[in-house]
Amino acid sequence: MQQMKNDRFLRVLNNQPVDRTPLWIMRQAGRYLPEYLKTRAEAGDFMTLCSTPELACEVTLQPLRRYQLDAAIVFSDILTVPDAMGLGLHFEQGEGPVFARPVRTPEQVEQLATPDPETELRYVMDAIRLIRQELDGSVPLIGFAGSPWTVATYMVEGRGSKEYSHIKRLMHDGTPALHQLLDKITATTIAYLRAQIDAGAQALMVFDTWGGILSPANYRQYSLAYMQSIIDAIGSSHADTPVTLFTKNGGMWLGDIAATGCACVGVDWTIDLAEARTRVGEQTALQGNLDPGVLYGTEATIRHEVKQVLESYGNGQRHIFNLGHGIHQHIDPDNVQIMVEAVHELSPAFHQPATI
Ligand code: CP3
Repeated sequence: MQQMKNDRFLRVLNNQPVDRTPLWIMRQAGRYLPEYLKTRAEAGDFMTLCSTPELACEVTLQPLRRYQLDAAIVFSDILTVPDAMGLGLHFEQGEGPVFARPVRTPEQVEQLATPDPETELRYVMDAIRLIRQELDGSVPLIGFAGSPWTVATYMVEGRGSKEYSHIKRLMHDGTPALHQLLDKITATTIAYLRAQIDAGAQALMVFDTWGGILSPANYRQYSLAYMQSIIDAIGSSHADTPVTLFTKNGGMWLGDIAATGCACVGVDWTIDLAEARTRVGEQTALQGNLDPGVLYGTEATIRHEVKQVLESYGNGQRHIFNLGHGIHQHIDPDNVQIMVEAVHELSPAFHQPATI
């Protein structure tokens, strides 16, 4: 295995000591960076950017040229999977993702294609291979997918939603259709994530953006159970690749998430890391959890809030600094620099051996 020049991120995931807290930023390649907007304009649209490996590689590397981050994440989207399943994805200006052919009936679930990751999603694997080559061992590369539940909400609703009426109807219609849909997405996701590892991804993250809209019982049944299948499958085929699970608004379920056996639990800003640490125990790393809105603040407030997050986790080697959700598009890139410097400066104090 290639030796990483900066392996802090992987060390924390593997429960090894580090000199300071590693950090990366959810959506670190994105619209807050003028160079991203330029590359996207040259590509013409977001999907072309995702599906052209050279361009996906270029935007993956852009935030790493600006900031001393400890990991790269492949530039793609969780919705490339349902696109490959035949739903016809496009992004509408100001509206976000829209599917031409949403899945609403048991017959439509039945007819769904199960794509081969090295065929329909080959562009993602090619991007990963290219990025690994370009990174040349500088920092590790994260691969990712959406959770089956989150991907299903987009597939059934057809676009972003406030009430989730279509998927809740499917959930409660007395048929097994939703479970059949989740089974198909899970099988596709497992093959997709395994292919990402084989292509060069060194850690994985599963984004469960919409798990938090479920009741506790339904969360376990419709979201967590399928993430558990992913953890078990990756554990059986690629036991050395750590997986992070992140349920937005899932603070009350952190103990259940850690119990899946994942290496790391992502945390949003609605729970203190001290409390999160108690819930997951010392066997699981934590990733988070600065409110992205803090980055609208002044230098002093950003530094103060970074310190609060570090203090809340406290002394110990199982914390990866990140935002509690993706960075907003109107953030000033200079404020990101302030955050990065604050983590570099303030976090070594939390990695000293305990003094008596
Ligand atoms: O983190 C990274 O830098 C990797 C790239 C990445 C993107 N999307 C690029 C993107 C990742 C990890 C995602 C995950 C993703 N995509 C999630 C889960 C994480 C989360 O934010 O909750 C979700 C729910 C999606 C679906 C999605 N993609 C939506 C709802 C939208 C439109 C709304 C928005 O935030 O802009 C996208 C588009 C998208 N994906 C953009 C980027 C940089 C913006 C597209 C543009 O350039 O206009």
